[in-house]
Amino acid sequence: MAAGMLERQARWLERYRPGLRISERGSVVSVGDGIAWITGLPSAAMDDILAFEDGSRAMVFDLTERLIGAVLLHDTEALTAGAAVQRTGRTLSMPVGDALLGRIIDPLGTPLDGGPPPAHTRWQALESSSPPIVARDFVHEPLYTGIRIIDTMIPIGKGQRQLLIGDEGLGRSSVALDTVINQRGRDIRCIYVLIGQKRSTVVNTIETLREHGALEYSTLVVAEASSLPGLQHLAPFAGCAAAEFWMRQGRDVLVVYDDLSTHAKTYRELSLLLRRPPGREAYPGDIFSVHARLLERATCLNAAHGGGSMTALPIVETQLGEIASYIPTNLISITDGQIYLDHNLFAGGFRPAIDIARSVSRIGGQAQHPRIKEEAGRMKLDYLQFLELEVFTRFGARLEASMEAAIRRGRLLREILKQDRLSPLPVTSQMAWLVAFNDGLFEDTDPEAVAPLLRAIEEPARRTGLSLDSPREEWSAAVAGWLSRPAGGPPA
Ligand SMILES: Nc1ncnc2c1ncn2[C@@H]1O[C@H](COP(=O)(O)OP(=O)(O)O)[C@@H](O)[C@H]1O
Ligand SMILES: [Mg+2]
Repeated sequence: MAAGMLERQARWLERYRPGLRISERGSVVSVGDGIAWITGLPSAAMDDILAFEDGSRAMVFDLTERLIGAVLLHDTEALTAGAAVQRTGRTLSMPVGDALLGRIIDPLGTPLDGGPPPAHTRWQALESSSPPIVARDFVHEPLYTGIRIIDTMIPIGKGQRQLLIGDEGLGRSSVALDTVINQRGRDIRCIYVLIGQKRSTVVNTIETLREHGALEYSTLVVAEASSLPGLQHLAPFAGCAAAEFWMRQGRDVLVVYDDLSTHAKTYRELSLLLRRPPGREAYPGDIFSVHARLLERATCLNAAHGGGSMTALPIVETQLGEIASYIPTNLISITDGQIYLDHNLFAGGFRPAIDIARSVSRIGGQAQHPRIKEEAGRMKLDYLQFLELEVFTRFGARLEASMEAAIRRGRLLREILKQDRLSPLPVTSQMAWLVAFNDGLFEDTDPEAVAPLLRAIEEPARRTGLSLDSPREEWSAAVAGWLSRPAGGPPA
């Protein structure tokens, strides 16, 4: 063996020709807050990955005449001013593919779950341009959340971008998690991106997904609050890249960005540290385009391009319900609709605390199953009308009989729409309560007594041989049977 090695070395020496190899060497001017200032790499370009002598890595984020501002992606204790730094000639990419399923990784693909690095076969650039118009299709298939109020009145379609907006603690993440859990058995891959969250939230999210058997078809991309700001900034792009790979393979993917307010704040922090000019609310002027670029990549591809889809559920936080502040308005204008969670509803025990009046799905209606659409029909309008009428009754106004009836129905519906978290319903169960409600089977029930009736139809509806396409009369009869009541007619 030693002889073989000597031989190889001799051959290498024989062929060796001294030559000139140019490599730029920069040095660190200062480092701190997740950022390094560097001089002496004249050919460095934006997004280049830099390698430091101690093993740290950074990405070029800002170029000035004299200095390069880079955000750290990996740092060691040894990184100080004066350290040598080189270009790697690479930009950021991320391992993608089915090896990511069931895994918890950071935005560079490094495992955080104690497992081995994902055995990937492909790398995908974190930044890539969104699919061109000619590759896109209209949103035409429903994506079920399993949540009554959403699937009937604010329906979401595959490829849609639907914003979850509200103050902290009102159940935005819960809606997103329920939606992920509800994709079990539906051949939809899920990516849950956690940006700048507390360790306890990260752990809870993982445990919830695991307990509900949702981890096996999901990937978590995590950059928690204590991670380098550069990593937190990259997290949504990493999740998006992984989703994009599956979408281009013709698969359906759901991505949750939890949350983009924190993401915007991290970006603001990095930008201010890099001395970029601050704009509105001190956010850098390009924060809109950063989020637009991210969400533009979620879409529904047409059959000629594989027919895959990426549905995005970005989450944004409001302060005291103020949706007119900078980041929420940006995101509202970028997305195809929003689900607004309201403090007063939450406090009043209406959970999920979704405010129908301020929630909208601009394109999901087209994707709704025609039978669900038929049953849910005027429900949203009726409910909104009821809410207005109810305000009148507070003043003790006397109402006509028809209005009394509308109020009774509204109160019933309000009880029906209350739903515990972690209990998403299959579509057949959604159909069952819609039919029961429209047939008036709950009509002589006190609102408080509606929950047991809902439970009585939920299980049989889960196991029923009926499908959404079964005739209306069959549904009517089945539901009446489960409630042991006389079957009603179709909706008036
Ligand atoms: N449908 C629901 N029913 C009852 N409690 C809920 C529901 N959704 C959320 N909650 C509760 O509200 C709290 C906040 O929920 P979370 O999803 O973490 O809010 P956010 O992500 O908006 O900060 C949690 O304690 C959760 O248990
Ligand atoms: Mg949350």
